[in-house]
Amino acid sequence: MADFNRRFAKLERELRSLYLGLYHDQQAYAYFCSMLKKQYAQRKESLRQLDARREENPGWYKDQKMLGMQIYTQCFGGNLKGVEKHLDYIQETGANYLHLMPLLESPKEKSDGGYAVSDFRKVQPELGTKEDLADLAEECHKRDMVVCIDFVMNHTSDEHIWAKRAKAGEEAFQQRYFFYDNWDIPNLYEQTVPQVFPTTAPGSFSWCPEVGKVVMTSFYPFQWDLNYANPTVLNDMTENMLFLCNQGIDVIRLDAVPYIWKELWTTCRNLPQVHTLVRIMNLAAAIVCPGTLLLGEVVMEPSKVVPYFGTPESPECHMLYNVTTMCTTWHTVATQDTRLLRHQMDTVFALPRQYTFLNYLRCHDDIGWGLDYEYLRQFGVEEVAHKRFLSDYFQGKCFGSEARGELYNDDPRLGDARHCGTTASLCGMETGSEQSLNLDIMLHAFLFTQSGLPILYSGDELGQLNDYSYHCDPIKREDSRFLHRGNFDWAAAEKRSTNPLYQALLKLEAIRKGEKAFHADADVWTLEPKNTHILAIGRYYQGDKLLALFNFGRGNETAWLEEGEVYEDLLTGEKLDAKAVAMKPYEFRWLILRYPQEKE
Ligand code: GLC
Repeated sequence: MADFNRRFAKLERELRSLYLGLYHDQQAYAYFCSMLKKQYAQRKESLRQLDARREENPGWYKDQKMLGMQIYTQCFGGNLKGVEKHLDYIQETGANYLHLMPLLESPKEKSDGGYAVSDFRKVQPELGTKEDLADLAEECHKRDMVVCIDFVMNHTSDEHIWAKRAKAGEEAFQQRYFFYDNWDIPNLYEQTVPQVFPTTAPGSFSWCPEVGKVVMTSFYPFQWDLNYANPTVLNDMTENMLFLCNQGIDVIRLDAVPYIWKELWTTCRNLPQVHTLVRIMNLAAAIVCPGTLLLGEVVMEPSKVVPYFGTPESPECHMLYNVTTMCTTWHTVATQDTRLLRHQMDTVFALPRQYTFLNYLRCHDDIGWGLDYEYLRQFGVEEVAHKRFLSDYFQGKCFGSEARGELYNDDPRLGDARHCGTTASLCGMETGSEQSLNLDIMLHAFLFTQSGLPILYSGDELGQLNDYSYHCDPIKREDSRFLHRGNFDWAAAEKRSTNPLYQALLKLEAIRKGEKAFHADADVWTLEPKNTHILAIGRYYQGDKLLALFNFGRGNETAWLEEGEVYEDLLTGEKLDAKAVAMKPYEFRWLILRYPQEKE
């Protein structure tokens, strides 16, 4: 208990003041603290040792050797045992951070891809047991890999035991959700709360016939929003989170975290109480299992995302998704104009270096066009028309587009559109063109150039295409996100030794892991290539300077840089100056200059 007591003594003051400031409930707070103690007592010795090692090296996850992969247990290995059997493959791809998509119990026909959890302590039976999960985590740790899983904290399934008891009329359980006798208050909320799924699940409330009341359901009607104004909800959900940490989970992905506090007359997003709650959960993990990281899923513009890092004294999330860079990258593919992406890079590069972003090209969700339209307006780009263009582009409907994607939750009322598709299909690989392969490789090189943790979406390493079979599945067909949630293509994996994309990615990863310039603490900046098709990024660390150039144009271009020294191309070994670098369509270059280092 010594470690627990030490950490508790250090952090309790802040914990107490945040908790009591929010709830004014001493009894609930006492319960919370005893729950922390109980969860610590249940933590395995091997995990406590891991905690101790990570406490010694708190920046462990920032290492440039970290590479993530996001997989669906079922699509990849059938079940957890199957995933364990294929860990060699995952390691061979270079990944050492495994994000297992939702795998807790969730009703089949009302699951939202597993994001409607009916039991936070039970693995979906087809996928295995909690022991299988703990075994997999242990095996990953032996291999120096880390495991991330989703913690869906905003809502439960309407078949969760709390929801069932609420349906049975138990008031204490109804108080864990938002119930209203009639539509009066829900209708007031609807005036200010944006819709999450305007087409597939319009509105933020649903009628619950069992109770004869209206219940808040921001996402699907079967996902009931939890009411965190009730301290019991926070207590029990934090305990559920710690329980998962005790199964050996290293990274907790806080799903849909901006939504967890609701107030009438607001958007019910990013309210100050959300930050208090995340900080409390951070403190709980720091006391019980300090080796654990919190990854926040905040799919919002940068000004809303960054506060979720908290402050150096009171950190909230250890990592956050870099969603704006992701969607801006795809915008750049469509427009061939890098000005917004450069602006976005400048925004990210100006942030304190201790902020760690999780970078990605594709994930299990759609691409929403949360672009900086204020900035684009100076170039005459208008939001609705531009979204229409992107919509056409990513469905392959405009001249020059080889992209093959589908619309997702198109909202014609607002002229909003979102998109689905795998990286390869969005790059145009369904057409089989060489250009599309080059684009796919270049986008990965750009991903690896950024500071932070790059995550590959399983299958992307092989160029896996869209899976159109979901159209014939009655449960999935309304949700086009299943377009990019197909089964892993093991036949393609067998042939990986001759797969040009796979081989190219291995080469890029090896460079990223080995070259000093990719160190997490490197200086990073953008350069002016006097050509809007080209994005130019510089990285400098301890005498090594990297110039990374990306031609997003579909024609030959030149990067006009004033860099007269002799660089070496990290991929080809060619020596060249970087004054006027000729670039083919979708070509990228990683050019290195090594300054002689003074001997110490
Ligand atoms: C997150 C998930 C998404 C899910 C939603 C509701 O945004 O990424 O897939 O639909 O939360 O839980």
